[in-house]
Amino acid sequence: MVPGPIGVFDSGYGGLTILRQIRELMPQYDYLYLGDNARAPYGIRSFDVVYEFTIQAVRKLFQMGCHLVILGCNTASAKALRTIQQKDLPQLDPQRRVLGVIRPTAECVGQITQTRHVGIMATPGTIRSHTYRMEIAKLYPDIKVTGEACPMWVPLVENHEADSPGADYFVQKHIENLMYRDPKIDSVILGCTHYPLLLDKIRQFMPSQVTVIPQGDYVAHSLQDYLRRHPEMEARLTRGASVSYYTTEHPVTFNENASFFLKSAVQAQRIVLES
Ligand code: DGL
Repeated sequence: MVPGPIGVFDSGYGGLTILRQIRELMPQYDYLYLGDNARAPYGIRSFDVVYEFTIQAVRKLFQMGCHLVILGCNTASAKALRTIQQKDLPQLDPQRRVLGVIRPTAECVGQITQTRHVGIMATPGTIRSHTYRMEIAKLYPDIKVTGEACPMWVPLVENHEADSPGADYFVQKHIENLMYRDPKIDSVILGCTHYPLLLDKIRQFMPSQVTVIPQGDYVAHSLQDYLRRHPEMEARLTRGASVSYYTTEHPVTFNENASFFLKSAVQAQRIVLES
């Protein structure tokens, strides 16, 4: 067994917000980021297509030496993770692991909500999958979950419109929809890795009694806890404090946009995913 980096996968740029928080907590490991920018966004795609794209990326990250892959994308976690864990991993390599971002986020919410009424804001695909609702119900059956699909929020972020007056309209509209449907909500999960870039606007329009929950910090701590509980996996990770970026689109475009998400310059390489 040759140790390797931790793989972080996303449909595009959103997973960079997860990678940033994981690296803040555990800078010692090597990381390999893969963004499927050529085929993003995933949020509007069917179950079958998201699964197909995600398993291709996981296979590639395994080939590149990763023993542990984090799906830093809610849509891929919602639509592909379970099948990959149950069907693909036993055949591909039972020693390797693929983890998602939904379970760690669902775990935290029980300690935060007082009213036991929780909102989820996410892509249409994540909301339609009901994965958050199911994960929260397993852990906290007393919590009522209301989901709001926000199809315009990812395009706003990707087109650098997150601070524009146009963003005000769409952010306010979806918050009002959610709170109208359940006025008792006191905690709202941002169930999309792009949404931390809209955080200031979301806080501006969210009623003051509502706690907004960006997920990156919970995902990072959950991974740290996982590695403490699984020393056999920790032993398979290299510790060179490096990060390499790969994209299925043109690297120049990726570099420009990724620096907006990470607030630092990156040098990506192009990669092709095969079926
Ligand atoms: N980053 C993805 C997520 O967390 C959203 C972007 C997309 O639709 O591809 O769901």
